[in-house]
Amino acid sequence: MQIDIDLTNCYSFTGKYEIAEEAEKSLLHLEALVKRTGPGSNFLGWLDLPEESSRQIHRINKTAEELRSQAPASVIIGIGGSYLGARAVIESLKPPFQLADNKLQHQVLFAGHNISEDFHSSLLAYLDGKPFNIIVISKSGTTTEPAIAFRLLKKHLEDIVPAGRLNKHIIAITDSDKGALRILANREGYKSFIIPDDVGGRYSVLTPVGLFPIAVAGFNISEFVEGAVQMASSTRDNNMAKSNPAILYASARNLLYKKGKLIEILVNYEPSLHFIAEWWKQLFGESEGKEGKGIFPAAADLTTDLHSLGQYMQDGERILIETVLSVNSPKTALTIPADQENLDKLNYLAGKRLSEVNAKAEEGTTMAHTGGGIPVIRINIPGIEERFLGQLLYFFEISCAISGYLLGVNPFDQPGVEAYKKNMFKLLGKPG
Ligand code: PA5
Repeated sequence: MQIDIDLTNCYSFTGKYEIAEEAEKSLLHLEALVKRTGPGSNFLGWLDLPEESSRQIHRINKTAEELRSQAPASVIIGIGGSYLGARAVIESLKPPFQLADNKLQHQVLFAGHNISEDFHSSLLAYLDGKPFNIIVISKSGTTTEPAIAFRLLKKHLEDIVPAGRLNKHIIAITDSDKGALRILANREGYKSFIIPDDVGGRYSVLTPVGLFPIAVAGFNISEFVEGAVQMASSTRDNNMAKSNPAILYASARNLLYKKGKLIEILVNYEPSLHFIAEWWKQLFGESEGKEGKGIFPAAADLTTDLHSLGQYMQDGERILIETVLSVNSPKTALTIPADQENLDKLNYLAGKRLSEVNAKAEEGTTMAHTGGGIPVIRINIPGIEERFLGQLLYFFEISCAISGYLLGVNPFDQPGVEAYKKNMFKLLGKPG
């Protein structure tokens, strides 16, 4: 089983043949990617990560198990590409409510993705007196947000674990030889994993940046990587445009962009997928939003946001593309009970699974939105499992690279992210 893409609800906005034609043209971009002849070709290490990362799985799992057994919680420190992939996968897979007595659970917390004093004070208070591990992730080793969080948490940990064991509780994921974090890891004897030079942050989920935290959270990274291997064969290694889901997705969204659809909203009907959209926003936003061009990537959790953004989506500016993460089967079963009084008039649903109602909500929304002028792309996901998430994330990565080439930009740089840093450093009086 594999995720696939359904463009039927786009055809009244951009014709089936127009998409097919664009898809044929996009094969050139796939070739440029695979042959490494396009812009940003020195950042294409991610293309082969599905196969390459398999070699690291044993060491990652072994180290993850050591961390899990020595403390009940780990804090993952990172921001942007050094944070979102792991969080997307972990939040998708973990149950939304964890039973307090479930001893198998290892708690994974995230920090370093903001500079909020209240957030960090609360985190330190929560961790007071409890042993924990720190997994600090930064390719440059100098990013302000994670560096501040690392300082605070390391100091806190020093008061909790014996000095001789401190370095066993810290894992660094960083560059092989550059940056402050590499120097510290070598000097203090932290176990470490390497972020390859030729993989940018937002394409790094299949390196230890994503795999290590996912393993520490207790999920199956072999399955996750295997999913990516399957998707690589259907996309990276597939020259048949009409059966290549990444080419079809990239082609459809670019055609729609040329027709004035300036915003793409990635929606889900499973709240656990919320952080997949956060990861996707970074992937597409940083890759395409440059030179005054690019679709703005937005996200909504449905049906929740139908009660807030729903009005705009149905009736506002007709500049939207909606891409639905459509999950075919839930992990659990729950039916709606009958009620003798039936005051809420819900007995017509009694005995139905919640997933049937959710599926009808999705179908009804898609009909309403398509009818209201929104092209809808559906991505079918067989279930929320490691394998399908591996497929999904690799599918988006390769789609994004092709889409960036179609748009005429380098999808592997991010010159725009420096502007706020320059101002912040100047305002804070950073030396040099
Ligand atoms: O995609 C990117 O390059 C960025 O989002 C970075 O991942 C982010 O700024 C964190 O950088 P670093 O890993 O160097 O701390």
